[in-house]
Amino acid sequence: MIAAAMTSAVAAGWTPALADDKPFDNKLPGLHARARAKGLFFGSALSSVALSNDNDLLARLLAECGMLVSEDAFKWDAIRFDQTKFDFSRADALMGFALLHQLPVRGHTLVWHEANPAWLEPALTSKTASEKLLTDHIRAVAGRYAGRLAQWDVVNEAILGDDKKPQALRNTLWLRALGPAYIDIAFHATAEADPRALRVINEYGIEYGIDWQVRKRNQLLDLCADLVARKVPIQAVGIQAHLDAGEVNLDQTGLARFIADVASLGLKVVITEFDVRDQRLPASIPARDTAIAAHARAWLDAVLPNPAVLGVLSWGLSDRGTWLNSYFPRADGLPQRPSPLDADLNRKKLWGAMAAAFDAAPPRIAKS
Ligand code: XIL
Repeated sequence: MIAAAMTSAVAAGWTPALADDKPFDNKLPGLHARARAKGLFFGSALSSVALSNDNDLLARLLAECGMLVSEDAFKWDAIRFDQTKFDFSRADALMGFALLHQLPVRGHTLVWHEANPAWLEPALTSKTASEKLLTDHIRAVAGRYAGRLAQWDVVNEAILGDDKKPQALRNTLWLRALGPAYIDIAFHATAEADPRALRVINEYGIEYGIDWQVRKRNQLLDLCADLVARKVPIQAVGIQAHLDAGEVNLDQTGLARFIADVASLGLKVVITEFDVRDQRLPASIPARDTAIAAHARAWLDAVLPNPAVLGVLSWGLSDRGTWLNSYFPRADGLPQRPSPLDADLNRKKLWGAMAAAFDAAPPRIAKS
């Protein structure tokens, strides 16, 4: 099967990753084509600002991606900024672009402790009021796009992962208002509003073998096992994968085992927010790009073999718009290089590493 897939890849004009010093040809088939050859998908996040202003980026997105996710448009503070009305303008703009180009979309996100409007927490005055607010929101938002979204991040970042605190769940406005049941409520409401979108619990800080992340993995596994046992309609774990090229504790075996444990619960896995920060690396761009690419390849090689893994989304396709420069700035002030394309939209070593990782992944779909 692998040989057959490789033969057809060669016939389609795909080339293996080029030598380090040669740029990649932007006209070669994109990352989604490389992923799709194995039954995987590749996609990217896109901000509303870029969607309305950056036609060059949009052209590259169309060349590289088989799925889109909005960085901002489906969050509460976009749709519910005003307590008295819903504002779907940004989300609709993304849906329109995706429909025009026939690209599947992930929804991100229905429940999160961040990106909430200021009025929300004071409105959570009782369990009844809180449950109504949450379910009304999910009915309105997931209901509006029902049948048109491939996936929903139903709950984002529910696990605390703090070694000084014993509890697993993060103390959020929703936990305070509804207790752990907020997770059940959100998944049930999403399943009712849009039964066809894959329902995902999305988490960060589960990517490496370091102690607090291993603890977080175990807490997430316990939570998922409990949800599955109680028939809460969760279907997948999203691993955000905001990687750090300076992190040495990759522990590929532990990572592969974690994914196998998720799969053994009957859940799928999606790599939802892939990027590689470099603020612990020296300034040299070639050195950074090489280290970033090697780190990404090693991480993806541990993840992609498991057939429960459906695909990879990059949190931004190009370095030009990355959130990391404001959220995790380098001490020397240089821009970070976390994305497959550079700020001029050219393919980087990271692009080559991701393409090669897709090429090396076992095919999901048996070909006769
Ligand atoms: C980030 C966006 O990229 C920023 O533009 C925004 O201001 C804040 O949120 N984990 C998530 C994403 O689940 O929603 C975050 O996105 C990045 C971390």
